Amino acid sequence: MDLVKHEHDVLVVGAGGSGLRASMGLSQSDLSVACISKVFPTRSHTVAAQGGISGALGNMGEDDWRWHMYDTVKGSDWLGDQDSIEYMCKNAVESIIELEHYGVPFSRTEEGKIYQRPFGGMTTEYGKGIAQRTCAAADATGHAILHTLYNQSLKNDVDFFVEYFVIDLLFEEGKCVGVLAWCLEDGKIHLFQSHMVILATGGYGRAYLSSTSAHTCTGDGNGMVLRANLPLQDMEFIQFHPTGIYGAGCLITEGARGEGGYLTNSEGDRFMPKYAPNAKDLASRDVVSRAIQMEVNAGRGVGAEKDHAHLHLEHLDVDTINNKLPGIAETARIFAGVDVTKDPIPVIPTVHYNMGGTPTNINTEVLDANNNVVPGLMAIGEGACVSVHGANRLGSNSLLDLVVFGRSAANRTLEVLKDKPDSHIEVSESTIDKILSRFNSVRNASGDINPSEIRDSMQKTMQRYAPVYRDQATLDKGIEIMKNLFDDFSNIKLSDSSLIWNTDLAETLELNNLLYQSLATLYSASARTESRGSHARDDFPDRDDDKWLKHSLVSVSSEGNASYAYKDVQLETLTDEMETVALKARTY
Ligand code: FUM
Repeated sequence: MDLVKHEHDVLVVGAGGSGLRASMGLSQSDLSVACISKVFPTRSHTVAAQGGISGALGNMGEDDWRWHMYDTVKGSDWLGDQDSIEYMCKNAVESIIELEHYGVPFSRTEEGKIYQRPFGGMTTEYGKGIAQRTCAAADATGHAILHTLYNQSLKNDVDFFVEYFVIDLLFEEGKCVGVLAWCLEDGKIHLFQSHMVILATGGYGRAYLSSTSAHTCTGDGNGMVLRANLPLQDMEFIQFHPTGIYGAGCLITEGARGEGGYLTNSEGDRFMPKYAPNAKDLASRDVVSRAIQMEVNAGRGVGAEKDHAHLHLEHLDVDTINNKLPGIAETARIFAGVDVTKDPIPVIPTVHYNMGGTPTNINTEVLDANNNVVPGLMAIGEGACVSVHGANRLGSNSLLDLVVFGRSAANRTLEVLKDKPDSHIEVSESTIDKILSRFNSVRNASGDINPSEIRDSMQKTMQRYAPVYRDQATLDKGIEIMKNLFDDFSNIKLSDSSLIWNTDLAETLELNNLLYQSLATLYSASARTESRGSHARDDFPDRDDDKWLKHSLVSVSSEGNASYAYKDVQLETLTDEMETVALKARTY
């Protein structure tokens, strides 16, 4: 195959919030930067983030980044790395003001300040009060941020390669030296060489049947990382958002409860005060999702199947709905047939976020199983695990993670490439051939199984065998089925081997990435014999710090087998300033 060749100093793979923030930051330097994305940038999944971005601006009452840090450590069920969390919370205010200056159209208070709403798990004075910390642009905050960052990237002349599917990372002598990508439009294969690759490829929500994630959320970067024999971290921690629309999976923002919405069961009881007497409906997501499941398990679910809950907004005044929640009113009307001013919305815990991903240090540099930096490779955003979310992410900390660590990746790259090499390391033919041989074997596959059958089974298996509540038997059964599906991939059949806009081929490559990550999730979940954050084991209901206050690292071989490693949680904070808070957070 003829390759179209490109040379850049830095490649950013992915054009969501973190990828655009990194690209934009780098484009202001004299490094040459390319941003490669399989979708048009403003279709990246960041566009779907609704409720807001957290930061202790204190616009709606007293606030302090230390309180934010405390909440995040506690929300992570103590699995978050406290140096990274300190870095994120401390940098939040500056990063949000920067977004405001870039042009993000935030909602405003009467005095013209950025509007901030309450969100689950966000408190004042180390858990005493409810904080208003989540900066919102109505209920379309991700949309506002993504479009603004895209505008800024265009203004700064980021070199975009749009609708290019990255097949795999290129390594020479242990260093990442670029990527091989397939241009969907003209069908050509492109060799991109660089001194640094920044993966910003998002989560893998589409491993599950019911997910708030877009169909494009297939965690392609994590698939590439596993194929490069590198591990993924904390993959057992899958966040279920308590309020996905029953049947459709669409997100109903936590902001709806932030504005006063509440949940009820089939008896019309508001049940959250029973499970979380202080925070009630604004408890952290793992707590609310488990509470809904427990109501359902106790026979108090609503609907014919008694398997979901009701979210009430009917009592809110119409101005609040129109000004603060217009998007979810429309979503509820279209996908649940509900007028939120009159009737409750049927909701169910729905897969929403991956806390795990490609392990990085606080500078976003990718780490191997021995905790060594992998030269030439960084990761940011939902696909990365800088471990600010630990075992459970607080709502509105995701948009924050994207911009803080997107910016940090750009800054770190500038440091690393201060004395950049004069030329690129040559990519050997054998490296390219290996990648193209996998690509062509998928493209020309003539086995017996339609990839869509494998995708269906994978999604159903994850939904059934890696749900909110797990135990050894279900997880091990899940591994058995998933391993068979992984093997079945070598017996697939594609009916179209063309290279131009072959969506069947693109989706099959995505499926391969999802299968790797599904196995990684099941393996890590089966190994972790405790309950922590989003990982709720019926057979091990308690958190076990003696044994499990550690991160899981799992690698998946090309045969689908696992190898495990573990590493300590970073309990030391970044500065002395935080010592007291770290101790406070550990007093549980
Ligand atoms: O509920 C929401 O608006 C989701 C926010 C988040 O996941 O951060």
